[in-house]
Amino acid sequence: MTLSNAANSGRGPADVDLSIAIGALRFRNPIVAASGTFGYGLEFAHLVDLSQLGAMVTKGLSREPIDGAPLPRLCDTPSGMLNAVGLQNVGVRAFVEQKLPALRKFDIPVLANVFGYCQEDYVEVIRVLEEAEGLAGYELNISCPNVKKGGLQFGGDPFAAADVTREARRAARRRPLWVKLSPLIADIGLIAKAIEAEGADALNVANTYPAMAVDWRTRKSRLGNPTGGLSGPAIKPITLRLVWEAQKVVQIPIVGLGGVETASDVLDYLLVGASAVQVGTASFADPKISERLGTDLKGALFDSNLFSISELKGKLSAEFG
Ligand SMILES: Cc1cc2nc3c(=O)[nH]c(=O)nc-3n(C[C@H](O)[C@H](O)[C@H](O)COP(=O)(O)O)c2cc1C
Repeated sequence: MTLSNAANSGRGPADVDLSIAIGALRFRNPIVAASGTFGYGLEFAHLVDLSQLGAMVTKGLSREPIDGAPLPRLCDTPSGMLNAVGLQNVGVRAFVEQKLPALRKFDIPVLANVFGYCQEDYVEVIRVLEEAEGLAGYELNISCPNVKKGGLQFGGDPFAAADVTREARRAARRRPLWVKLSPLIADIGLIAKAIEAEGADALNVANTYPAMAVDWRTRKSRLGNPTGGLSGPAIKPITLRLVWEAQKVVQIPIVGLGGVETASDVLDYLLVGASAVQVGTASFADPKISERLGTDLKGALFDSNLFSISELKGKLSAEFG
């Protein structure tokens, strides 16, 4: 601990208030376990004290079950990881019947990650979830090919992103709607504003980056699919900029995700304007990381004589260099 006013004040890290609000939702801290890296939460419940996390997001849920991509689905890359899981999931109805009742017993807000290949898919998944109890909100994954528009990504086109957000917003009558952006966009401001205008409650910036890893000896992709999504520390500087650009143009809260491993990573995202972060790849190396980050965050803020998130959030200096 550095010598600071805090050290002399009789207060300790336990006095740091990590609580945050994202729209109508209140969380005990800004650490959210990211979709696809935390299963349905149940798989982690014996390893992690779920009540120590701010929230969690489920694996992506589709209208019908999906078997997923051929093996191998993961491969290491320098400072990161590639995945091509192929959005494997049990389907929204099986989630509601088989997973959600058990998940409801844990003291953690749960957001359901929703995806589809056309607007009707998104609406139908939300319609089924609206009938169920025990969810805090929805996270729309728009990094999916829009089959009806000939393979264009919803997340890459402001009009398609706005359309799917509008329909999802209409369907999501009971709960907040977060929209998770694709990082593969020319101008994040355009997409962010279009989604905000359709009533999204928060923007999640961002998903994985389309990428490849090959083995020249075997002449094959190192994944079962030719390409995958890059995640982990390698993408943090790129995503950090996207968060910073997005927060300049929207009023709604932004959740930053990409390469968060340490309390410093969390604080970097908060500094550029994020209200919270999600932790993905880091949970593969250490399933307890999301639990520990809350404690580390209190220590790091206390050492800098800060006692709440709001003292740092969005405070990036206007003087650069
Ligand atoms: C194995 C794996 C599966 C993922 N599955 C999903 C998914 O189903 N839906 C989704 O929106 N994002 C999914 N993601 C993306 C993560 O939620 C997160 O946006 C991304 O990995 C960047 O964060 P990170 O660098 O902390 O991993 C997945 C990522 C990984 C590594």
